[in-house]
Amino acid sequence: MAALGESRDVLLDAATRCEVRDVDTPPRRTGLSFRDVSKAFVAHGDRRPFLAVRDVNLDIPPGRFVCLVGPSGSGKSTLLNMAAGLFQPSTGAVYQDAERINTVNTRVGYITQQDNLLPWRNLRDNVALSLEIQGVGKRTRAERVARAIEQVALTGFEKHYPAQLSGGMRKRATLARTLVYSPDTLLMDEPFGALDAMMRNTVQEQLLRLWEQDRKTVLFVTHDLDEAILLADDIVVFGANPGRIVHVEHVDFPRPRTLADIRKSPEFTALWEGLWSLIEN
Ligand SMILES: Nc1ncnc2c1ncn2[C@@H]1O[C@H](COP(=O)(O)OP(=O)(O)OP(=O)(O)O)[C@@H](O)[C@H]1O
Ligand SMILES: [Mg+2]
Repeated sequence: MAALGESRDVLLDAATRCEVRDVDTPPRRTGLSFRDVSKAFVAHGDRRPFLAVRDVNLDIPPGRFVCLVGPSGSGKSTLLNMAAGLFQPSTGAVYQDAERINTVNTRVGYITQQDNLLPWRNLRDNVALSLEIQGVGKRTRAERVARAIEQVALTGFEKHYPAQLSGGMRKRATLARTLVYSPDTLLMDEPFGALDAMMRNTVQEQLLRLWEQDRKTVLFVTHDLDEAILLADDIVVFGANPGRIVHVEHVDFPRPRTLADIRKSPEFTALWEGLWSLIEN
């Protein structure tokens, strides 16, 4: 495992890793790329713009699981919103498979902190919603919905309404609702933040098993370093004021991983403490 503070060149030696670029280079042909991305907001009543994100350069190759950690207000959600095309960078650009994202990015599935399930629809109808909007036929829709529900291990709960599901089941339902339209890339913003530790670990490990089957590209925001180390191929540490990348750490614990296993190793503690001190500072 690369030690914190080791030269960034060493961290970036493998072409398949998540890369930080210092120069204006063309984006990779595939994957998600941020090029010189900055975002300024003008808050209501303020005369001067506030720089939320500055000079982010990051390439996430297809199939890579990248976790983004950093202090509150450092611009992590802002970065995801730009990848989803919900708003444009003030300078620079975000690319999906070398195509500049100018409008809502339909190739990503965006899972936000709140599960946003519709309370008046049961699980099956919540998962079916995006396919209904796309006009997918009833039979195909039923097959794809059943498959997505099976992927997140919720078969048997199709007729349950959100209020009848546990917190962890609702998170998995949200994931099924995204998987059903097969996005290339998943953007996940603290999706498990509200769960207690045990439930969170169960859902994390279910997500990992699922990801290992088809290796979608994932950009996952979390405040939880255990979670980042368990899930990530690379951990991108964001600093605040303005939000910017301060460090990229490659995590090379072998997969499949469980938290119980990796926590036993001294490398886990060293990595956790190194990341924590970066965030704290
Ligand atoms: N639409 C907006 N208008 C004005 N300011 C905004 C807007 N969105 C975000 N900001 C500001 O940009 C900064 C970064 O916000 P962002 O939500 O990206 O942080 P974050 O790292 O996701 O924080 P947290 O970990 O608390 O979720 C904050 O200071 C926030 O107030
Ligand atoms: Mg946020």
